[in-house]
Amino acid sequence: MNAPIDLLSDTRQVTVTVNGKQQSLEVEGRTTLADMLRQECRTPGVRVGCEHGVCGSCTILFDGEPMRACLMLAVQADGHEIKTIESMADGDKLHAIQEAFSEEHGLQCGFCTAGIILSVSELLERCPQPSDEQIYEVLGGHLCRCTGYQQILQSVRLAADMLVDK
Ligand code: FES
Ligand code: FES
Repeated sequence: MNAPIDLLSDTRQVTVTVNGKQQSLEVEGRTTLADMLRQECRTPGVRVGCEHGVCGSCTILFDGEPMRACLMLAVQADGHEIKTIESMADGDKLHAIQEAFSEEHGLQCGFCTAGIILSVSELLERCPQPSDEQIYEVLGGHLCRCTGYQQILQSVRLAADMLVDK
């Protein structure tokens, strides 16, 4: 078992799989997972907004579950698997959820969008045809100051249809 960590002065080796690629990194104990992903792992799609777990913009998939990367320390990711928005498209080909958001105008400034798309991908994985209530429950964890949510709802509905038809 690892010794207790001094958040201010200790550094630790962290081995983490980000978007399918295993990496070993030296991080300070106080580094948040969001900062590690943005600064060390080159996944700037992890957006940092409120930095205290409210807005949802920093959402990632952590072993397949949506998590707020601003609320975790980088050292907590040791041995785990992370997916960020950078994992969704296949080269130039957007993921169906991204296509649906584009088609239904589910974004404006886009700051909230990466986190929402990752949460929606987990929802559609466990529930391919969600009810509006199930979609609202997921969207309730994400603040969007631009869209008014109606277009996001339509985008999720379209994404569900596109994925079922595949
Ligand atoms: S930046 Fe993490 S929830 Fe807002
Ligand atoms: S699209 Fe601007 S915050 Fe959601």
